Amino acid sequence: MIIMKEYRTKICNVLIIGSGGAGLRAAIAAHESGCEVMVIGKRIKNDAHTTLAAGGINAALGTVDPEDDWIQHFVDTYQEGYHIGDPKTVEILVKDAPNRVRELVDWGTPFARTEDGELDQRYFGAHTYRRTCYAGDYTGRAILSTLVEKVEQLQIPIIDMTYVSRLLVNTQNGQKQCFGAMAFDINSGERTVFLSDSVVLAAGGHTRIWRRSSSRRDENTGDAMRLALKSGCKLSDMEMVQFHPTGMVHPESLAGTLVTEAVRGEGGRLTNSQGERYMKHYDSVRMELSTRDRVALANYTEISEGRGTENNGVYLDISHVDKGIILEKLPRMYRQFMESQMLDISKHPMEVAPTAHYSMGGVVVDPETHSTGVIGLYAAGECTSGVHGANRLGGNSLAEILVFGKIAGDEAAKFSETLDLQTRNRSIIQEAIEELDKLTTNGEQLARPLQRAVRDIMWNYCGVLRSGEGLQKGLEELMKVKEASKDVDVRPSAEGFSDLALALDLLGSIDSAEATIRCAIERKESRGAHQRSDFTEIDTTENVNYIVELVESKQVVTRNNVTPLPDELEGPVNAYQDLSVDGRLLE
Ligand code: FUM
Repeated sequence: MIIMKEYRTKICNVLIIGSGGAGLRAAIAAHESGCEVMVIGKRIKNDAHTTLAAGGINAALGTVDPEDDWIQHFVDTYQEGYHIGDPKTVEILVKDAPNRVRELVDWGTPFARTEDGELDQRYFGAHTYRRTCYAGDYTGRAILSTLVEKVEQLQIPIIDMTYVSRLLVNTQNGQKQCFGAMAFDINSGERTVFLSDSVVLAAGGHTRIWRRSSSRRDENTGDAMRLALKSGCKLSDMEMVQFHPTGMVHPESLAGTLVTEAVRGEGGRLTNSQGERYMKHYDSVRMELSTRDRVALANYTEISEGRGTENNGVYLDISHVDKGIILEKLPRMYRQFMESQMLDISKHPMEVAPTAHYSMGGVVVDPETHSTGVIGLYAAGECTSGVHGANRLGGNSLAEILVFGKIAGDEAAKFSETLDLQTRNRSIIQEAIEELDKLTTNGEQLARPLQRAVRDIMWNYCGVLRSGEGLQKGLEELMKVKEASKDVDVRPSAEGFSDLALALDLLGSIDSAEATIRCAIERKESRGAHQRSDFTEIDTTENVNYIVELVESKQVVTRNNVTPLPDELEGPVNAYQDLSVDGRLLE
């Protein structure tokens, strides 16, 4: 008698989870080290979230402002992260970003050029110099296409429409070691056990769990954070979620969609319903090019104090800029507003409001190797923590995914090459199968409305402005959703196994929401993206990172003192206050 297995098995040296920029850059690195690599993505390849990144990628190339260098990039990033980023991680980022941009140029990314043929660099908020390279406002798409092409040339398989439900982690003598992942095909339901020497987790953040978000449906649902937590990793800075100041406000189906900071970088002005250019009250020097946390809070305040538009936004106006420049530098924005609102942004202002945009916290990784503490498991990109602290500079995320994608891929390959022995524990695989079996069952609840409940909770109680009381209430409501999530109806249909993917997305959303709220409760101050109405100032005793881990299946929060600045960087950081920002605003 032939015994049919309940799953297929695929084997490689390095398994990459996530087919966005970080995952693909990791795949290229691991392949170039001589490893057999596979990439798994839950969306169609070429359509990972990276494609939505608009305005640019930072690298201190000094092509437009020759005074720029890595030290200034370090200072801007660390200082504007309110001193809770990891100095070593930031240093690695800013030193390596120019290499990664030049590499993309060699691989064919069509970055904008100056008249002299140099790479053009534009202003983004809170950068001392122009250091953001761009391809119109389609930068993420241009980079992702380049990476997909490269991966295809190297014949690295991208297995798309495939959902990872669990990392396979064996525990021996108190040490955890990752040996692959359990996944299923979202269309056919076919299950595959991916066995590998090492794994790179690059599956994005959790900002889709707010009602207004710049992520699309079913992406950035916190699944990476859930996978990491359940494997024994720690999460840090989960309360630090960046709200981008400018998301669309209507139509409702597109509310939250990114309106790139490049609009302000190219001279866009913010005004309220009284026609006042209100940024002068919040940052009279940097105005619209202030830090994201300040501009987001300013927009939020104008709207909540009754000076917003009828659609609960503020105005962002670029109509004083030549239409040719708008079409050349902001083509996506021009189309986006024309197609969705029949609004010509070269003639009329846009309405915008804050939108959840980027997870600055995530998996704790070693700065130099991006190892996670679970042997054989590496992480890169938005699912990790360390670079951005309490406020991310626009354009640093595309740099981050490339720099640390490469490092994670290199290190995962190195680990594979030196691996002597690995236990691939069958009972762990069996548990992963049982989890999927248990989820695939009839129930009284549906995942989508519960997902919406999570998004409402996060928006209402853990948004731009938070309070202890609101956070506690949010946590209580979230626990009710958690309870309800145990009875979700999952049945394969003509739609395939998308119900199962939704149920897992819901679990990821709940776990990442819980970690976020728990850390936000603990941080009793206002710093960067974490603004509390009951603790309105920065408190230096809070110069810490809040860490979440699972202890006996329950989330526990502890605090770690931040890593101090190395001596040689203290001088430049302290001198930062004195730097002139004259001439930075484009009028
Ligand atoms: O506004 C933007 O184009 C976003 C860029 C970023 O978040 O890095």
